[in-house]
Parts: sequence; structure tokens; C-alpha cells
Amino acid sequence: MDVLEAIFTRRSIRSFIDREVEPEKIETLLRAAMQAPSAHNKQPWHFVVVNKRSLLDAIADFHPYGKMLYTAPQAIVVCGDLSEENNERYLGLNCAAATQNILLAAHGLNLGAVWVALYPREERILKIQQILTLPQYVLPISLVALGYAQRKVPPENRYNAQKVHVNRW
Ligand SMILES: Cc1cc2nc3c(=O)[nH]c(=O)nc-3n(C[C@H](O)[C@H](O)[C@H](O)COP(=O)(O)O)c2cc1C
Repeated sequence: MDVLEAIFTRRSIRSFIDREVEPEKIETLLRAAMQAPSAHNKQPWHFVVVNKRSLLDAIADFHPYGKMLYTAPQAIVVCGDLSEENNERYLGLNCAAATQNILLAAHGLNLGAVWVALYPREERILKIQQILTLPQYVLPISLVALGYAQRKVPPENRYNAQKVHVNRW
């Protein structure tokens, strides 16, 4: 799948069949994540691969919009390390770029994925830090739930010419 096809056909997948994701695919996703651009090329990210059912369930239990983790076989939590980038806003932006790379790569590998919001919600950050035993200086920014899709979601054309401004608003 070429990059434009991946961008134009990717959709969030929230229901999964009972099938593990191959470790090679997870490695490809992590490689894709780490190819993302980052401010000053600091690459201040870390990734927690979560494949233990009890941990996935613990996250689903508290996250109001993370209930798909009850059936997703895997997740990757994208974290930002404040000791590597002390500007929290840049940390969030860098990790967002890495997250989008994971979503597009997952789609290209025929996996289903969805971005589950953590940062900047304080209570979610604290819960994930506790469940995954993250150091305090590591902020969980986003979580990507992963697996093989129960069903495909059709592409949606969102192009809106009214959102485009040339030279001035
Ligand atoms: C910052 C951010 C946070 C999101 N948080 C959640 C979430 O917590 N749970 C969820 O099911 N989807 C979440 N999504 C996915 C959006 O709902 C989804 O991308 C949007 O509805 C567009 O649909 P699409 O991804 O299929 O194109 C999030 C997306 C972004 C970018």
C-alpha cells in the first residue's frame, strides 16, 4: 500500500477478532514510530508494548473511551520522557507524530488500530503511570489499541475547501 492510499483509507478500528499480532509486525510499528519527526530531532519517546490481558483490562476498566481494550490483543503506549525534552508541549507534539506513524503503518500491515487519548488528562496519565509502573518524568501521551479488525470501516472523504486559506484568512 503506498503512503497516499494509507492516508486516504485509514480509519479507527475498535472491534477486533481473537488473533494475536505477530511480533515482527509490532517491531515494524515501533520502527515506524521512531521514524517520526521530532523537535530538534530529540526523539524523546518511549513505547510500552502491552500484551498482558490483565493490564489491557485494567486500562479498559478506568478509561471512558478505551473499552475496545477488552478485546484488543495488544496496545502500544506512546510515552514522552521529560528528561529528554523538558518542553511538555513539544513532548506531546513529538509523540503525536509518532502515534500517527503507528496508525498509518498498522493500516499498511492490514492491522486495525485506534488512538486512545491519555495526555493531557491528568487522571488518565496518573492511572497509566501506576498500571505500567512508569517513572514520574515519563508522561504517557497516547495509547494505540491494535489487532485484526472485526470488520473494515469504509474511507471517508473529509476534504473541505472552506478550511483552506491562501495567503490570508
Ligand atoms: C487526540 C486523539 C484522541 C482520541 N481519543 C480517542 C479515544 O480515547 N477513544 C477512541 O475510541 N477514539 C479516540 N480517537 C479517535 C477519533 O475518535 C477518530 O480518529 C475520529 O473519530 C476520526 O475517525 P477515524 O480515525 O476513523 O478517521 C482519538 C483521536 C485523536 C487524534
